[in-house]
Amino acid sequence: MSRAVVYYSFEGNTREAARKIASLTGADLIEIKPVKEISEFGPRKMMEGGGKAIFGFGSAILPLDKDLSSYDEIMIGTPIWAGRCAPYIKTLLKDESIRSKVTGVFTLSGSGNNRQCIKYFRKKLPNLKYDVSLHDRVGKKAGANDEAIGTFVSGYIVPGEKELKN
Ligand SMILES: Cc1cc2nc3c(=O)[nH]c(=O)nc-3n(C[C@H](O)[C@H](O)[C@H](O)COP(=O)(O)O)c2cc1C
Repeated sequence: MSRAVVYYSFEGNTREAARKIASLTGADLIEIKPVKEISEFGPRKMMEGGGKAIFGFGSAILPLDKDLSSYDEIMIGTPIWAGRCAPYIKTLLKDESIRSKVTGVFTLSGSGNNRQCIKYFRKKLPNLKYDVSLHDRVGKKAGANDEAIGTFVSGYIVPGEKELKN
């Protein structure tokens, strides 16, 4: 079973979780890079990111490093922006052949509230089985992330699969 963790991260939280999840599941790690990142500064960052998340404009992405058609299963990681998933994920998921491979999603947020984003994923992704809400690494609830990641990846770790492959 070949797997990929495909993620977008602006400030590193989703990247850190993606690395852990990829390492625990033996999946390849693939980062989504936008054609143009939002501003790094305060109110402008929130306005640009929130605007993109709500209205979707300027959400083009660069070609990925790897061809997703070679994977059986895909996990998606995204920060929550304005209550939604990052706009670049929506751009990626315009491709039906990618949508059908996604079985798991993980979100990173300040509040832990990912309801609207998960609602979107459940509607779009016919084979979605696992989802998890993770917290900013500097937040008060960050300590719960490792256990939540453990539960999330347990769906992907089939006893003996590694031995059979080798
Ligand atoms: C533009 C923008 C909008 C955000 N909107 C929300 C939000 O609506 N709810 C929330 O809990 N956190 C929100 N956050 C915080 C991020 O979801 C959180 O810091 C996340 O861990 C960032 O992931 P990253 O470090 O991988 O970019 C927002 C952050 C940015 C930059």
